[in-house]
Amino acid sequence: MKKPTVLLSAALLAAGVLAAAALYGPELVAGYRFMDALDRHYARYEANGGAWPQAQDACTLCHGVRGQPANGQYPALAGQPVAYIQAQLQAFAHGTRHSPQMEPLAATLSEARIQALAEYFARQAPQIVDTPEADEALRARGQASVAARGCTACHGAQLSGSPVGPRIAGQGQAYLLEQLIAFKQGHRTDPSGAMNATASLLAQDEMQALAHYLAGLAPAVR
Ligand code: HEC
Ligand code: HEC
Repeated sequence: MKKPTVLLSAALLAAGVLAAAALYGPELVAGYRFMDALDRHYARYEANGGAWPQAQDACTLCHGVRGQPANGQYPALAGQPVAYIQAQLQAFAHGTRHSPQMEPLAATLSEARIQALAEYFARQAPQIVDTPEADEALRARGQASVAARGCTACHGAQLSGSPVGPRIAGQGQAYLLEQLIAFKQGHRTDPSGAMNATASLLAQDEMQALAHYLAGLAPAVR
């Protein structure tokens, strides 16, 4: 008695699957494609930064996916030198760089986590954050100022970072201006003193020109 029942159930099940496939075929295929796309997305995510959830997911809200923010108020972290990211996180954690958002967050990070976050963001490809409204006169003024003040000596030939200084090409215009003002006013201090000295020479309109020029400059992928 047992065997025929099993066979019958199997036959009913197979018929059910066939009927469902006929009725819901397109949806099933679409669902399968969706799951397939999700699997591929997840595989890329995992290959780039480890198993879910990743520590860097906590940064996405402000610094964007893979360290590319949607809003030029926030700094892009993508492609910044490892040592620079580490130094900034330590400065926030120790309260030597000020930010109401970053200080409490950085204070919770272990040395190992800081190192891993820095390495993750350093290997992401940088892009321009925002495209400010074109102003050719301001752009040309910023370009001339970069040449006159020798910013490339520390920020690299393409202003995309060097062992000495961070990438400034392609950062958001608002963030760049805010940082130059912070260095000039001494709200942010550079341990080497270089940026406070440089910014002290800059008038407000020259800082605006620099921020405009740098924001529109495509960063080089190192
Ligand atoms: C709630 C928003 C917010 C979150 C979340 C956040 N940040 Fe920030 N972060 C900021 C802001 C704002 C600044 C700029 C601070 C300033 O004005 O100097 C900043 C600056 C930084 C800087 C310095 C960038 C530079 O170019 O000097 C680093 C590095 C950084 N954040 C790393 C992180 C990491 C890593 C995470 C996740 C673990 C994270 N942040 C999460 C808002 C945030
Ligand atoms: C002598 C070396 C030196 C020169 C020249 C220099 N910088 Fe810097 N700059 C630095 C260093 C080092 C830092 C990182 C400071 C820190 O660790 O807080 C920095 C940081 C910055 C930042 C903040 C970046 C960020 O992500 O928060 C901006 C903006 C900047 N520089 C713009 C400029 C501009 C514009 C010029 C030219 C007018 C210039 N710098 C010339 C060394 C230099």
